Amino acid sequence: MADLWQEAMDHAVAVARKAGEIVRDALHNDMKVLCKSSSVDLVTKTDQKVEQLIIDSVKEKFPKHGFIGEESVAAGEPCVLSDNPTWIVDPVDGTTNFVHGYPFVAVCIGFAVNKTLEFGVVYSCIEDKMYMARRGKGAFCNGEPLHVSDQKEINQSIIATEFGSNRDPEVVDRIFSNMRKILCLPLHGMRGAGSAAINMCLVASGCVEAYYEIGIHCWDIAAAAVIVEEAGGVLMDFEGGPMDLMSRRIIAANNKTIAEKIVKEIKAYPAVRDDAPLQTKQ
Ligand code: IPD
Repeated sequence: MADLWQEAMDHAVAVARKAGEIVRDALHNDMKVLCKSSSVDLVTKTDQKVEQLIIDSVKEKFPKHGFIGEESVAAGEPCVLSDNPTWIVDPVDGTTNFVHGYPFVAVCIGFAVNKTLEFGVVYSCIEDKMYMARRGKGAFCNGEPLHVSDQKEINQSIIATEFGSNRDPEVVDRIFSNMRKILCLPLHGMRGAGSAAINMCLVASGCVEAYYEIGIHCWDIAAAAVIVEEAGGVLMDFEGGPMDLMSRRIIAANNKTIAEKIVKEIKAYPAVRDDAPLQTKQ
């Protein structure tokens, strides 16, 4: 049977590649950096330009589809996942990396129907790595199949996480306290690429056993979530249940054993849901 969403996925790959070219070119030009929720939550003209390019091209081809885009939400658009086919876009995941020329920056396009993620495309454009996965059809990077690591011992693992963009000292203390617990298991190491999506693609690639973070948004993780699952990995909430895309927290791991070990060690702290009414986000 023909795959209903193959055309959409092909379009996502093509537009992600084009977007990646724009991001790469912009690295060599002067960039204007603006702040969003805080002085460390950055946005550039490139984020906005690339998101517009993706939205315009998708609207032309699939006029009935919906969008959730990082910069559109920042500009006041709603962040609600309906049953309608929805493109979930982060034009530049790793904006801080991009601003500093730190070479892990990804264009992320996830696609959900009936609230189920159907495919994901993550283009790590400085490395020129095109990660993609279609539900039920496997995960690939530049055409090569991806598989998670088969490691079951957390103390023989590398775990990735991030500091995020909240510099409230209480939140920073909790981040360090969680990292301390995990690191002292002890682990082989902790890493962070500065892009949630690339961290997750590294889990899918088998060189990092797990990634966890509180404070990410649905557009940071939607595309890579399909890639992790299709590479054989698991997505878990901090309570041990299935990942909730809108909850602002995620554990992506090579297997349940490692994910549950992380659940046992770390403590969640509140983050306002992505789909919370606008007034509660102020
Ligand atoms: C951020 C990156 C970062 C993560 C933050 C995200 P952005 O996304 O993924 O690694 O720590 O939580 O918000 O703002 O660069 O698209």
